[in-house]
Amino acid sequence: MQILLLGSGGREHALAWKLAQSKRCTQLFIAPGNAGTPAHGQNVALNPLDFDAVGRFVLDNQIDMVVVGPEEPLVRGIWDYFQADARLQHIAVIGPSKAGAVLEGSKGWAKQFMQRHKIPTAAYREFNAGQLEEGLEYLAQHSLPIVLKADGLAAGKGVVICQSRAEAQEELRDMLGGKFGDASARVVVEEFLSGIEFSVFVLTDGKTYRILPEAKDYKRIGEGDKGPNTGGMGAVSPVPFVDADLWEKVEQRIIVPTVKGLRKEKIPYKGFIFFGLIRVGTDPYVIEYNCRMGDPETEVVIPRLKNDLVQLLDNCARGTLGRVKIRQDRRAATTIFLVSGGYPGDYAKGKVISGLDAVKGSLAFHAGTSEKNGEVLTAGGRVLALTSYGKDFRAALRKSRRNAKAVQFEGKYFRRDIGKDLEAF
Ligand code: AMP
Ligand code: GLY
Repeated sequence: MQILLLGSGGREHALAWKLAQSKRCTQLFIAPGNAGTPAHGQNVALNPLDFDAVGRFVLDNQIDMVVVGPEEPLVRGIWDYFQADARLQHIAVIGPSKAGAVLEGSKGWAKQFMQRHKIPTAAYREFNAGQLEEGLEYLAQHSLPIVLKADGLAAGKGVVICQSRAEAQEELRDMLGGKFGDASARVVVEEFLSGIEFSVFVLTDGKTYRILPEAKDYKRIGEGDKGPNTGGMGAVSPVPFVDADLWEKVEQRIIVPTVKGLRKEKIPYKGFIFFGLIRVGTDPYVIEYNCRMGDPETEVVIPRLKNDLVQLLDNCARGTLGRVKIRQDRRAATTIFLVSGGYPGDYAKGKVISGLDAVKGSLAFHAGTSEKNGEVLTAGGRVLALTSYGKDFRAALRKSRRNAKAVQFEGKYFRRDIGKDLEAF
């Protein structure tokens, strides 16, 4: 099978690593990829958002399957673009239709969907610019803290947790006033849930679903979960507090009604669903849906998946996921991200990365890297994810930390406390 993988992050490097291991993968292209992905396929200079160019490449190279890494092409309708073209219709696109990607593309729509299908989530109200006064009044009565979310995609910056009503009112004014452009033309105001977060992934063919290994992601830049949010600084799988009782609730209260809800509403969905969950007391609630795999979660979830990924995705595309049994590696997997100094604020690019050949006992998944004259350079905020296996997360983390020290670039930073909170379980 000829495969085109769209994206350029650590998630895509991990997917490329796994896809290339399949005997069924005859050729793998990654668009645009990074300095790590050529180890598993061929990078192509294609913009995943330029659907005409993607379509032409697919036809010219007899691609059988397109695996979409990030959300943006999905939210903009790449699946529908393929469906609308007679020459492209038969090609498997792993990822939902535009109507399905709204689960991530509109937080307001996702909240309504959860209400329709009685899926547990924080109580909320939604406001648009014409409802500013109403919104301000609502906030004046709200319990603290208050969570404000821009409805649309805002590059991971659209969620603000306010500790006072005045701060929330100012934030609502800013958001409805265009702080995130169109993405904050509508704002979801929701109740703050206090608990511990975890990420659950399923692959669905629109009829049934298969559950992949779960993970916990570390979003804040600073140790002790302090400071601004990032794309993710590290991840651990499995998650020790996700026991059989919690799994049962997640599956029956959240996964089943989500997949059934999509089907009932006739929303085409053949791809990954990422459930951002929080355990409050002993019950799971949905914080958010994503229409793709997580990053850095993929860097620990995919290494723990023993199935042939091409076979699995082919079953997904053909609607035969029901035949598949998921096999998980019993070992733990952990990843630690090396990031550029200053991230998630401003940071320098183009720093030479050294010590990659000193990495032993970990997989080095590239994210923000590029290659120039045989040197690997930093090219983004999140640079490299060091994934390790271990008999438990502690053993795996020791290896990830050791290798995080071995790789060097100017301004390198990583969290040394990934997984520390899990010691309590
Ligand atoms: P997001 O940008 O959608 O990934 O959300 C960022 C983070 O905001 C989440 O990972 C949670 O830590 C936090 N968050 C979002 N909604 C809530 C909520 N209702 N209660 C508590 N924390 C929340
Ligand atoms: N790790 C969170 C995300 O991928 O959105």
